Parts: sequence; structure tokens; C-alpha cells
Amino acid sequence: MKLIYTGKTKDVYSKEDGNYLLKFKDDVTGTDGVFDPGANTVGLSIEGAGKAGLRLTELFFKRINEEGIPTHFVEADVENAAMTVKPAEVFGKGLEVILRYKAVGSFFKRYGKYCDEGADLEGFVEVTLKDDERNDPPITEDGLEMLGIMTKEEYKELVNLTRKIGEIVKSEMKKKDLELYDIKFEFGRVGEDKHIALIDEISGGNMRAYKNGKYIEPLELEKLMLEKI
Ligand SMILES: Nc1ncnc2c1ncn2[C@@H]1O[C@H](COP(=O)(O)OP(=O)(O)OP(=O)(O)O)[C@@H](O)[C@H]1O
Ligand SMILES: [Mg+2]
Repeated sequence: MKLIYTGKTKDVYSKEDGNYLLKFKDDVTGTDGVFDPGANTVGLSIEGAGKAGLRLTELFFKRINEEGIPTHFVEADVENAAMTVKPAEVFGKGLEVILRYKAVGSFFKRYGKYCDEGADLEGFVEVTLKDDERNDPPITEDGLEMLGIMTKEEYKELVNLTRKIGEIVKSEMKKKDLELYDIKFEFGRVGEDKHIALIDEISGGNMRAYKNGKYIEPLELEKLMLEKI
């Protein structure tokens, strides 16, 4: 196995059979020793965080695959905090797709003149570039096409898949009385036909969720989602 990328929370290896191995680390992002899923620096290490993130990722990716939506998921080895995936070509230098069901966070900061905080949104989708130096700027469909990052057709497919995946995640969470406010995904081109597939992970740090009106932080969210009733 060859290490091809060292990320903030995962290391990426290339396997002999052509697949990739994502190794989930116990490092979590944050600032000054405080866990903050939105931060762009590693803040601290929490024992078991890698395995918990992988277990939740496995749960969601299996459900999404069952619905016939393409993903990179092949198999999970929880003991070793490792997930085998199909290699993907990312769009440009990588992007994030954000799906919002509630007007909170940066959405409300920007558009607060037109909505109440916490108002319902019918699956608002926006794309941001993964660019730490420039604070992950948002980009429009036109921008994506003009900068050669993706075609308009790919954009349509991306938005369509995002909404479908969001509904699956939302309904899985509802089973545990968790209400999904917003979530971020990564996509890439997979296989010879370069079809768009969901990649990376879906763990507690990728989303904002509430239970009985109270914010549930990522590690607690993973615990609630993974415990047997
Ligand atoms: N199937 C895949 N093929 C290729 N690259 C992938 C695949 N799945 C995930 N990745 C990439 O592997 C990397 C995992 O690293 P990690 O999650 O630590 O994030 P990062 O790059 O440090 O940045 P961020 O903080 O934005 O998540 C990401 O860059 C992600 O885009
Ligand atoms: Mg990441």
C-alpha cells in the first residue's frame, strides 16, 4: 500500500488492486483544543473518534447504496478504522456540496433580511471550493462551468443526487429523533464512465443536528445514531 495523501482527519492509501483505503484518524478539527467540525485545522485528538466516524459513515453509505445511488464505498474494516473505496477524480481541486433544511449558520448570516433564523428550507443546495487559504468560497453553476470545474449537466446531476442522499440521511436520523439542519457532502467522478458518485465520509462532523430543539454535538450524535435501541 502506498500513502498518497495525508489529510487532516484521514490518510489516503492506494491499494495493489487499484482501490483506495481511507484510514480514519482520531484527530478532529478545531481551534485551541476545542472541537469545531467547521475548522480548517486539526485541533485535538479524541480516542475512538476515527472508529465512530467510520461506523456512522458505513451505516449511511450502505443505506445510500441500497437505494441505487452511486458511491465510492466498497467495504469497512472498523477494527482498523479503515474503509476501502473506489478511487475518484475530484472536481477541480475538490469541492463541498452543502444541503440545508434550516436557515441557520452562514445561510442566515447572509440572507437574514429575508428569513427568520431557523426557518424551514426545502433542501437548499450550494457548492463551495475546498480552499483553506480562501476560506472555502461558494461558487455558482456558471462559475463552475467557466472555470472548467464541471459541466452544467454534471451540476444538475450533483444537485439531484445531493437532494436524494439528503432525504435518506434525514430519514435515518429521524429514527433516533434527530433533526437534520444541514450537511456537507463530497462527490467525485468514479469508474471508466466517470459517473458522479458520493465520496469521502458522512460522520458527525459533516452535519448539524438537533434533538428536542437542542444542538447535538458530533461525537454525541454518532453515539446516538450507533447505539442499538
Ligand atoms: N474515493 C476517493 N477518491 C479520491 N479521493 C477521495 C476519495 N474519498 C475521499 N477522498 C479525499 O480524501 C481526503 C481525505 O482527507 P480528510 O478527510 O482528512 O480531508 P482534508 O483533505 O484534510 O480536508 P477537509 O478538512 O476539507 O475534510 C479528502 O481530500 C477527500 O476529498
Ligand atoms: Mg475531509
